[in-house]
Amino acid sequence: MGNFSGFLKGRSSGYSRSTDIVVKVKTGDKRGAGTDANVKINLINEYGVISADFLPNVFWRDDFESGSIDDFEVKNLSDFGHVIAISRIMEGYSRVNGRLTFWKPYGYDGWKSDESFGQQRLNCCNPTQIRRCRKISENLAVTEAMLWPFLEGLSIQEAVDARILYYIDYKILGNLPCPDNRVVSSPIALFFVNRQRKLIPVAIQLFQKPAKDNPVFLPSDDENVWPLAKMWFNNADATYHQSCTHLAHTHLLMEPIAVATHRSLSLSHPMYPVFPVKGVG
Ligand SMILES: [Fe+2]
Repeated sequence: MGNFSGFLKGRSSGYSRSTDIVVKVKTGDKRGAGTDANVKINLINEYGVISADFLPNVFWRDDFESGSIDDFEVKNLSDFGHVIAISRIMEGYSRVNGRLTFWKPYGYDGWKSDESFGQQRLNCCNPTQIRRCRKISENLAVTEAMLWPFLEGLSIQEAVDARILYYIDYKILGNLPCPDNRVVSSPIALFFVNRQRKLIPVAIQLFQKPAKDNPVFLPSDDENVWPLAKMWFNNADATYHQSCTHLAHTHLLMEPIAVATHRSLSLSHPMYPVFPVKGVG
């Protein structure tokens, strides 16, 4: 990255009326000097007060390219005083005492929690895979006794009737041919909505056929085992996402539509602008 400098509005024109300062960023022209990271800046006034973080990236512009000079408007700073310095932070990593250090990633504190794992089923890349459980799958070897500690006093049937038992079944990943003897699991996982209205996992079986070497993992398992079961599940989840949710249901699905649109429809056809396919992606 390069130099940051700022000047007050009024010295230049073309900026909006609420602009208090314009930050000019010159990115070095050395190889690798540009970045696509989010860059935040802080302004420092004459009393040493540091402003809140500003995110100067312009979403429609490819900022911070090698050798470029970019202008960024900072607004609503009227009470801040005289800016004497600008500091910048590259999101994702930063330098502390000259050493490159990584910021704590989002989710760092909660990655091991069951609550976070449950939340990923709803807010992550495959939110449509979860189903309400009406009956325990024959392939899932859970018993009443196994689940009793996690259902807050309910039996499996009572949880089913209360509509607070859910499952995800990645049967589709069963027997996937993998190179180099790698393994992708085809897990079935059960989830329960607890009294705090949180979706939490209560059982994970990593492969479809119940067997001695295919146990049901439970939250009460060893603290080094249960997280591994969740990680294997997430590995299958990611596999499904990339092959189906992403590749198949977006690129491959739209490809024939894009080709047919360009081959068959006139530019003046009323449906032409309806298809958001311009052959990019
Ligand atoms: Fe893509």
